[in-house]
Amino acid sequence: MKKLAGIAVLATAIWFMVELVPPEWNPDPVSATPAQWTSSNQCKACHEEAFSEWEDSWHAKSWIDEDVRLQSDNFENKVCIDCHAPRGVFETGVGNRVLPRSSRRSEGVDCLACHLLPDGGVAGTIDMPSAPCKPKATIELSRVAFCAGCHDQHKTVTQWRGTPMADTGPDCLDCHMPFRDGDPNRGRHHGMAGGHDLSLVQSAVTLEAIRAEGQIEVTVENIMGAHSFPTDERSRAADIFWRPLPTDPEQRDGWTHLHRIRDPYRTEVDITSTLLHALASQDKTGDSPRRTIAFTPPSGPIEVALFYKLAPYYRGSDGSVWKTEDVTDPLMDSRLVHRVEVP
Ligand code: HEC
Ligand code: HEC
Ligand code: HEC
Ligand code: HEC
Ligand code: HEC
Repeated sequence: MKKLAGIAVLATAIWFMVELVPPEWNPDPVSATPAQWTSSNQCKACHEEAFSEWEDSWHAKSWIDEDVRLQSDNFENKVCIDCHAPRGVFETGVGNRVLPRSSRRSEGVDCLACHLLPDGGVAGTIDMPSAPCKPKATIELSRVAFCAGCHDQHKTVTQWRGTPMADTGPDCLDCHMPFRDGDPNRGRHHGMAGGHDLSLVQSAVTLEAIRAEGQIEVTVENIMGAHSFPTDERSRAADIFWRPLPTDPEQRDGWTHLHRIRDPYRTEVDITSTLLHALASQDKTGDSPRRTIAFTPPSGPIEVALFYKLAPYYRGSDGSVWKTEDVTDPLMDSRLVHRVEVP
């Protein structure tokens, strides 16, 4: 009896060692070839660069993202789980809607969501049977349709497909997953910069203001040309404000709101979409990627600025929502993209 108990203890101990020790603690990673991939942490030891880029990306934060938490009522709205803690893209098929995951949701849009194949293998750009994870060349991984299952909800991919870029490039990967140091041999950067990256947002639009016949004409233009600005995500907004430019910078007044660029939520039926589309033909309102707003300010020099917001409404530090017209300090809750002076 004692002997049997001893064996049971030993067996339990071995089980603990095999099952509970995280793979990155394994002293010899090359011998670690799990029959089944169950967590992105398993990829970390061998793919440190991709892992650390991904860890800093918003894909990795899609489950813990505060704005998503707020808007989904802490994921009480179950439909939000689908893409924010997804199962594998290859499970439902490239371009199709992904299914929600029931475990390790905190890993968000993780390595497995994008790389795991239905047979348990790993999708890569080339076949490498000798590598521990045995990647298989999977051309769909590099296609625009791969991003579409999650990113066409608000038609970002459809918009791109309607532009000349669909024939000539660049595509989603060229702009959002460029080669590390511009070198194709270095693989692609997994940071996937988007609206949180101010310099990327600055590269998407131009702002001009001129004086014409007593008026000021402010022109904004989507020069990125791949999809609308801001990308068709109803959580984003861009606002144009102006204010007089006094000779003494201490004497500056508050800003006055001039124009908002945004796609409203379905429930906001009294607001029309003012997105700057990539092409004139894509715009429901018949507008072009370029828009001019004319107004008559009091005489004297003014400054005009474009601000970008990750969440549509301005909120005070106490969380209360401001009407956009009442905002005089847009920087309280947004970022300056471009600023011009009109003498
Ligand atoms: C079909 C896939 C899909 C579903 C379902 C989905 N999302 Fe998202 N969500 C995305 C993608 C893709 C992005 C990033 C694209 C973008 O920001 O333009 C995103 C971004 C967001 C953002 C902006 C996050 C940030 O970084 O600031 C919020 C907020 C958000 N989603 C909330 C929700 C809520 C609330 C629900 C449920 C009602 C939901 N999402 C359901 C795919 C989805
Ligand atoms: C024990 C080490 C090890 C583990 C664990 C591992 N890999 Fe790999 N992987 C390699 C090696 C070595 C290569 C081949 C050389 C290279 O590309 O870095 C490779 C290649 C790849 C490739 C193909 C590279 C290309 O150029 O197309 C992909 C994709 C990949 N791994 C993804 C993953 C993912 C996702 C995981 C986790 C589920 C993972 N790997 C786990 C060692 C590992
Ligand atoms: C949102 C989807 C997505 C996520 C998340 C993702 N990858 Fe990738 N990964 C890709 C795509 C797309 C490519 C290949 C593109 C190409 O070169 O054509 C790729 C390429 C790779 C490669 C090949 C070499 C390189 O760097 O280009 C490796 C290795 C890799 N990924 C590992 C990982 C690991 C490890 C994780 C998790 C830490 C991860 N990936 C997360 C989409 C993703
Ligand atoms: C399985 C679903 C899924 C796939 C596939 C996917 N994404 Fe995402 N992506 C998301 C979600 C969800 C978010 C929002 C994360 C958050 O909460 O901020 C996001 C965010 C982004 C962002 C915005 C980052 C920011 O600053 O807010 C970019 C850019 C992006 N993805 C690019 C891509 C590209 C390019 C591809 C194709 C290679 C791709 N994604 C594939 C789900 C996905
Ligand atoms: C010519 C370069 C270019 C191409 C091609 C491109 N984008 Fe973008 N993308 C940008 C720039 C610049 C921004 C920042 C401005 C904005 O948000 O509209 C951006 C923003 C985004 C964001 C961030 C939205 C947010 O709310 O944070 C997502 C998601 C995105 N793009 C997805 C895609 C997908 C999917 C494709 C392929 C169909 C694609 N992009 C093709 C340049 C590009």
